[in-house]
Amino acid sequence: MREVYLNGQFLPEDQAKVSIFDRSLLFADSVYEVTSIVEGKLIDFKNHMKRLDRSMKELGFEKSLNHDEILNFHRQLIKLNNLNEGIVYLQVTRGVFDRDFTISQKNISPTVFAFTQEKKIVESESSKKGIKVMTVDDLRWKRCDIKTTQLLWPSLAKTEAFKKGFDDAWMMREGYIMEGTSNNAWIVRSKNVFTRQSDQLILSGITREAVLNCAKNLGYEVIFKNFTLPEVESAAEAFITSATSFVTPVIQINEKKIGEGEPGEFTKALRAEYIKQAIKSSI
Ligand code: PDD
Repeated sequence: MREVYLNGQFLPEDQAKVSIFDRSLLFADSVYEVTSIVEGKLIDFKNHMKRLDRSMKELGFEKSLNHDEILNFHRQLIKLNNLNEGIVYLQVTRGVFDRDFTISQKNISPTVFAFTQEKKIVESESSKKGIKVMTVDDLRWKRCDIKTTQLLWPSLAKTEAFKKGFDDAWMMREGYIMEGTSNNAWIVRSKNVFTRQSDQLILSGITREAVLNCAKNLGYEVIFKNFTLPEVESAAEAFITSATSFVTPVIQINEKKIGEGEPGEFTKALRAEYIKQAIKSSI
């Protein structure tokens, strides 16, 4: 059984309980971060903390949290659970008070919890075979730049994709690809790599940020620009980035193969470069 973290305590997972009045349960009033672990170390932890601060600030949470304390309990969780490779999931909710649409209470203590999940990320099956995605409408709210736990639409969309034989869904607004259900979307055309510009309609990925430099190291230019479904269909390669998938090839969109319908050479090189850099800077 896993040991998890809840509000300052380490507990067996079946003993960690939160109130039914937690704003997270009642209003999805909470934010989260997922940090990957390779060889027992945290990848890009500092940038995850910066984004956590931003998400909390955008929702008007009263105080930010101490990053050293968070680092400390992340490391403790890794140790207690003997985690070599996988993720640490962290969630911060606004806290507990009687159900009320108005957030009127002051000095509410946030609920903070975290747990580990084992996952093969470096040698994942999907990175070797590539994934197939289908397109769906993006029915999320228009503040996708905040990493909230309002994840019902992405979860339903991914489930629908699975039922239809795909691995994930790419969400679209007004003819443009926004992002995957829990990852950023990219395409490759000649020596250019395209990923959507950052604004309020997508999450600015921490992995994406790190991958930018890797792409440049490989002699590619990164262009932040919207792209359409026909542009994906005619791209040489496509891939996704996230903390849980690193760089993973996309080999098919709807019924159309991308490129040769196999993981592309650039994507493979980019993945290797990213993993090398990520491990080097892990803490
Ligand atoms: N998801 N876009 C969305 C909508 C996401 O949920 C995520 C991450 C990303 C990639 O961000 P990053 O590179 O910082 O992981 C983009 C995490 C992994 C999750 O929900 O499990």
